[in-house]
Amino acid sequence: RPATLISPSILSADFALLAEECDRIVKLGADWLHIDVMDGHFVPNLTLGAPVVACLRKHSRAYFDCHLMVSEPAKWIDDFAKAGANMFTFHLEAAADPAALSAAEAHPAVADVARAVRAAGMEVGIALKPETAVELVMPYVEAGLVDMVLILTVNPGFGGQKFMGGDVVGKCAPLRRAHPGLHIQVDGGVAPSTIDEVAAAGANVIVAGSAVFGAERPGEVIAALRASVDG
Ligand code: DX5
Ligand code: ZN
Repeated sequence: RPATLISPSILSADFALLAEECDRIVKLGADWLHIDVMDGHFVPNLTLGAPVVACLRKHSRAYFDCHLMVSEPAKWIDDFAKAGANMFTFHLEAAADPAALSAAEAHPAVADVARAVRAAGMEVGIALKPETAVELVMPYVEAGLVDMVLILTVNPGFGGQKFMGGDVVGKCAPLRRAHPGLHIQVDGGVAPSTIDEVAAAGANVIVAGSAVFGAERPGEVIAALRASVDG
């Protein structure tokens, strides 16, 4: 599998001190910063958009791993590219009608979003909600349109929820088998107590919000997560 990357979710940071929080967590060993964008429509919560990412970019050279929990991902591609986002991860369920997705062939609407993200100069991530079958993302990975697949292990919308193990995190395994070099990200309820199952399933990009920002010593949590994945 590719190198282990720890991407703390700033959803659990102090939003009034975002630049300092980002700087602090990078100095403590974070590889990427996971930025959760919620539109109050695709998920029942509102967070931040491209204007905040653009402001943060002036204070940070970190890799911005943006997770767009929004109903119309295509609408925001140019704004995020201009704001300095590095990874643009959109939901498979948002890019096309989930009922029209198939494991056998790529849906043109999803493929178009993926191509537009890359054309805008960002890396392409596709996220799957817990109930979405992993087979449905395979056509895009096989077509070479995707740099990362994000497997959600909570229902998106809020930090601090309980990790869904078993079959949900288990969706990583067939992806890893079929695509040894792919970035596979797990997001939701990841902590030192759940990381072993995440690592065993084959993920290499680890998101953790409350476990990192809620810790007395976030650097130790980052190091512990990394050590568990690296074995
Ligand atoms: C869930 C978000 C996650 C969330 C993770 O809607 O996509 O990135 O911030 O937070 P924790 O690690 O606390 O579950
Ligand atoms: Zn996220």
